Amino acid sequence: MFKKICTGLLILLGLIVLAAGAVYAAYWRAALAPVDPPPPSSFSAQAIAEGRILAGIGNCSACHTVKGGAAYAGGRGLATPFGAIHATNITPDPQTGIGRWSLAAFQRAMREGVARNGEHLFPVFPYTHFALASDADIAALYAYFMTRPAVVAVTPPNTVPFPLNQRALQAGWKLLFFKPGSLPRNTAQGTDWHRGRYLAEGLAHCAACHTPRNALGAERTVAAYQGAAIDNWYAPPLTAANTAPLPWSRDELYAFLRTGATALHGVAAGPMSEVVHEGMDASPDADIRALAAYFADLARPRDANEPAVDTASVIKASLARSQKVGMVDNDRGASLYVAACASCHSNSDGQPALLRPELSLNSAVSAPDPSNLIQVILHGVGKDEGLPGALMPAFAHALSDADIVQLAAYLRRSRSHRPAWTGLEATVARVRAGK
Ligand code: HEC
Ligand code: HEC
Ligand code: HEC
Repeated sequence: MFKKICTGLLILLGLIVLAAGAVYAAYWRAALAPVDPPPPSSFSAQAIAEGRILAGIGNCSACHTVKGGAAYAGGRGLATPFGAIHATNITPDPQTGIGRWSLAAFQRAMREGVARNGEHLFPVFPYTHFALASDADIAALYAYFMTRPAVVAVTPPNTVPFPLNQRALQAGWKLLFFKPGSLPRNTAQGTDWHRGRYLAEGLAHCAACHTPRNALGAERTVAAYQGAAIDNWYAPPLTAANTAPLPWSRDELYAFLRTGATALHGVAAGPMSEVVHEGMDASPDADIRALAAYFADLARPRDANEPAVDTASVIKASLARSQKVGMVDNDRGASLYVAACASCHSNSDGQPALLRPELSLNSAVSAPDPSNLIQVILHGVGKDEGLPGALMPAFAHALSDADIVQLAAYLRRSRSHRPAWTGLEATVARVRAGK
């Protein structure tokens, strides 16, 4: 009996080893030969200009540039549940950057997540999305990066522990979660929508933040764009599940993505501010409109019987609600609001204003997760964030954690129909600690 079990286990083990070997072999990639760094004159001015715009859409600098550091020289540590993975130097330095990468090697990295030396790259580098970019767009990106100033910068080592740091294991991850494919034409949709989808699902990788991930760090496609926590922020749902009082129409999306703020929703702060201002600022209007068309369709209620939202009456009811509540005896949250916030945020003339975000219409107040509201109270909104030039002061020093808990609970209670947030104390402490 015992012998039988042992033989069984041995066979099983043998099969597992064989299967792992087969996966490893299927995903094995050769090193591609280094090339002499191509001279900048070998690229057309047009390709370089297009590459610059695409690098913005791809938000390459958000990860590959350290705050205040040399452009694209890498070194920023990206926190994953398994440890930090550092974005690499993608300037054309021959030794520490990608100066000796051919177009083929660059294209393979973008399409398959494989470095020039044949090693698998980790999926924090959003190659799972970049794989959808066209040959021409990848060539334009290559032209742009190969003509940046070369910077000598060695990428710091990652802190992912053994055995997860073994790049060969990424073969298994790719087998399970990486299904490179193309986007089939949707005959019900027009040119704008298709362009928007191409950008969003590909280079812009919007889902990388807005879609929740599974325990192995892969996007859960069944919950695409349903909202996800990211670096102590919350990227809200971009589907009909979005909880903002007013729907994300094409015009609202366009204004938000183009300028970083709208009077009817609020501002793009934190990581989303980088997407808008450090990324898409360079994009032509047509592309921003295309993204708006795609996401307006995604946010549309799927139930055709759902009555259309009457914007004017939602605005009226929301403003009435926020004006009704003033100072309430013994309510510390309300007193704090009057003392610290009301001077800038009350819209007593009955119209929501861009520079005085109406908190009863604000996404951060109605979101299922309080992180964004807490972030904004603690750190304010910088003059380069949200609407450029507009500034909200930080309250990290003026307000204690207990104050912020009271204030957030009060705003939730008085300015949204949503259920009270739970665990506010813990969230305020976590966001303040930045962990
Ligand atoms: C969300 C963060 C993030 C964004 C956005 C991002 N990258 Fe990266 N990238 C990384 C990380 C992290 C690595 C290193 C992965 C590893 O070590 O396995 C990497 C690696 C690479 C590599 C491989 C370089 C090497 O030395 O192995 C290339 C090429 C690259 N990125 C290009 C780009 C381009 C082009 C863009 C914009 C279109 C971009 N990346 C956007 C995080 C990012
Ligand atoms: C690096 C992570 C990240 C990426 C990439 C990203 N977002 Fe966001 N997004 C966020 C976060 C975080 C917020 C919440 C920010 C805030 O409250 O100001 C947000 C907010 C938004 C909102 C406002 C939603 C609401 O209800 O307030 C929209 C719309 C949006 N993003 C669209 C997009 C689109 C379109 C893309 C791709 C072009 C994209 N995002 C890419 C992180 C990201
Ligand atoms: C000095 C004026 C001023 C004060 C005081 C102020 N705010 Fe703001 N607040 C602003 C401005 C301006 C913006 C928009 C910034 C932008 O668009 O860049 C803003 C934005 C916001 C947002 C929108 C964030 C988003 O993601 O959409 C929230 C929420 C907010 N404030 C809450 C508060 C709270 C709570 C207080 C009190 C603790 C407060 N503000 C105090 C001026 C102020």
